[in-house]
Amino acid sequence: MSVAVQDWKPSDWRARPALQQPDFADPAAAQRILADIAQRGPLVTAEECAELRLACAAAARGESFILQAGDCAESLDADPAQAADAMAALIRRLAGRVPQTVVPIGRIGGQFAKPRSASEEVREGRSLPVYRGDSINRLAFEESARAHDPSLLGAAHRHSSATIRHLRESRSGLFASHEALVLAYEEALCFPDPDRRWWAGSGHMLWIGERTRQVDGAHVAFAAGIANAVGVKCGPSLGSEELLRLADRLDPGREPGRLLLIARFGADSVERGLAPLIRAARSEGLAAAWMLDPMHGNTRRIGGRKQRRVADMLAETKAFFALCRSEGVVPAGLHLEVTTGEAAECVGADGIDPMADFPCDPRLTAAQAELVIDTAMRC
Ligand code: PEP
Ligand code: CO
Repeated sequence: MSVAVQDWKPSDWRARPALQQPDFADPAAAQRILADIAQRGPLVTAEECAELRLACAAAARGESFILQAGDCAESLDADPAQAADAMAALIRRLAGRVPQTVVPIGRIGGQFAKPRSASEEVREGRSLPVYRGDSINRLAFEESARAHDPSLLGAAHRHSSATIRHLRESRSGLFASHEALVLAYEEALCFPDPDRRWWAGSGHMLWIGERTRQVDGAHVAFAAGIANAVGVKCGPSLGSEELLRLADRLDPGREPGRLLLIARFGADSVERGLAPLIRAARSEGLAAAWMLDPMHGNTRRIGGRKQRRVADMLAETKAFFALCRSEGVVPAGLHLEVTTGEAAECVGADGIDPMADFPCDPRLTAAQAELVIDTAMRC
């Protein structure tokens, strides 16, 4: 397992355009909090991260199956140990539907920052900064709640620390992952191992989202230097040439287990959009593993409210697995947004819209997630 980039430093991203970053009114206060986070240190070990990379390499070979699942956004209001127990139990339940060995990865222990399509939210003619996750601002539609508050980064670090410690101590076996979005936070937690490889210390696996995967952008510059398993969301705007450039940046050594390409096209465009990417990856001999996120390409806006239909997710799942089979690539895993709560948030397979309240994106209930997995396993 080598470092992707020689002479890389965790601060290198600062020379690149960084989208979706918090904008703090008091940068000096943010600096103090980031220094404190750096002092309190990483939440994961190099050994754990290396173990996950090996597990991902096995999944890329088809010997196991990655189940990455959790909340769209974690909440600072939740109890870390209780939330971690509930999510670990849910992912264990889902793993029971997979005949292969499962590599369980939670969207947990750091999933506190959200990329947004618009920077403002308008309600009844009033405009406020959009909610960006509990590590940046708060959900309530009030000016004070929506201000970017650096102390929340400190709170998210403490919460994530408690979560990951609990997962380790309870021997849940669940790895921690989140979107590598707030780069100053990620930089503060990087650490070198004795072989002088840099690891991201905020979680075992990080991914780059659909909105921040610019080849020459800050997020890719950051992810290029860390040795962790790294995911990249691949959606409709990603072309083959760009994918190959991304893979050259993020996985120049073509090391199995390093790069996870997470397709999130939507039921209507997965075949058209993904087939050329799979073919380009195969013809260039990329070692990346293909996964499916059937959630984020299937979000509609109905009267300002987000809606996802299980039927669309099942259709994208069938199309993805059929395409992998016909192209001769291994479908290495699923990436799902799930809730440990009882209330349905997505439109069920029966077509009924539950109209439940949700903080960020509609998540699958356990039973709905089982349906997606069962469908995948039958393909
Ligand atoms: C997410 O996974 O929460 C997300 C925002 O996904 P994407 O970047 O694929 O839209
Ligand atoms: Co989401």
